[in-house]
Amino acid sequence: MKILVTGGAGYIGSHTCVQLLEHGMDVVVIDNLANSSEESLKRVQEISGRPLEFHKIDLLERAWLEALFRDHQFDAVIHFAGLKAVGESVQIPLSYYRNNISGTINLCETMANHNVKTIVFSSSATVYGEPEQVPITEEFPTAAYNPYGRTKLFIEEILKDLYNSDNAWNIVLLRYFNPVGAHKSGKIGEDPKGLPNNLMPFISQVAVGKLKELSVFGNDYSTPDGTGVRDYIHVVDLAIGHVKSLDKLLGKTGVHTYNLGTGRGYSVLEMIKAFEKVSGQRINFNIVDRRPGDIAECFADSTKALKELDWKTERDIDEMCADTWRWQSQNPDGYQ
Ligand code: NAD
Ligand code: UFG
Repeated sequence: MKILVTGGAGYIGSHTCVQLLEHGMDVVVIDNLANSSEESLKRVQEISGRPLEFHKIDLLERAWLEALFRDHQFDAVIHFAGLKAVGESVQIPLSYYRNNISGTINLCETMANHNVKTIVFSSSATVYGEPEQVPITEEFPTAAYNPYGRTKLFIEEILKDLYNSDNAWNIVLLRYFNPVGAHKSGKIGEDPKGLPNNLMPFISQVAVGKLKELSVFGNDYSTPDGTGVRDYIHVVDLAIGHVKSLDKLLGKTGVHTYNLGTGRGYSVLEMIKAFEKVSGQRINFNIVDRRPGDIAECFADSTKALKELDWKTERDIDEMCADTWRWQSQNPDGYQ
């Protein structure tokens, strides 16, 4: 089976490539390297002991996509490529809409031209906006409060329209909760450019001495310790979710939506404690104001993925922290 992975050099994409290769699939990656480096793919091949094919292609370059699809007969596409920084999306919304939405339209048009009609799309728990209750099931109403979130929601809608227009499509919408952790080899992991936006890479950069202290965004939420609660999921469990989706759903036309989370929330203070325990490092932190746009609490009901994909998470919070720490301490400057 031959899979095209867009954005495969990135954080979740690289971990998914390892799983696909280890499952015997042939992998072709395209990435414009806007937020990643080719080094991640070299290491993916080292870990899996199998080769993959890489093309530096931007999804906005339609002609290159067409050429790629002429050269390969893909069975499915896993579509990770996109810009993902919430704050940046507020500053440069048009770049986000052009990159994420136009990129997806180019991809789907090219797929249709070449009769490739299976796509697994990286959606996000952000499409639930501020949920009225937790845990969140796939039936919850959707909303988006920033341009990044709107790109996810719009793309979901575009893909549903595509299916309605042509029932031969097989569309899988995977709504990720908060991916953290790294491959247990310590060779690949999250390598944010500049100051990390997300909690886990911030904590690990404090632990390794690159950053002085963590700002905890608010301790007055209505959560047990007042800090924000999220459903952190190990990136390897998430990657396996993609392989299971292909295993179970290939050939089954329709629009299939799944939450990928653990079903358990951890607060910011719990995450700090867990990381200190496994790393033996002290994490200095300071409580500051809430970050605009943040919600109090978010965690998944992933029962549907268990029932239909036979998927559940297997890596706990200690493993998430230990694997993040191994990656960070072995690669203090990421892939540089
Ligand atoms: P990432 O930035 O590490 O990976 C995305 C990859 O896409 C990068 O390698 C980037 O260079 C590439 N890319 C971006 N625009 C491109 C374009 N026009 N053409 C070709 N390549 C392009 O991010 P990630 O954390 O691995 O996320 C992967 C996907 O999952 C994204 O769509 C993201 O929105 C989604 N997602 C991520 C999270 C998270 O917290 N990490 C949560 C929910 C959903
Ligand atoms: N936090 C801090 N300090 C920091 C960073 C984060 O206290 O320096 C707190 C946040 O306030 C929140 C929690 O840590 O309570 C998690 O924040 P992240 O930024 O790591 O994650 P978010 O839940 O805000 O958002 C992430 C991705 C989104 C995605 C969403 C849902 O950034 O793209 O998860 O899966 F949509």
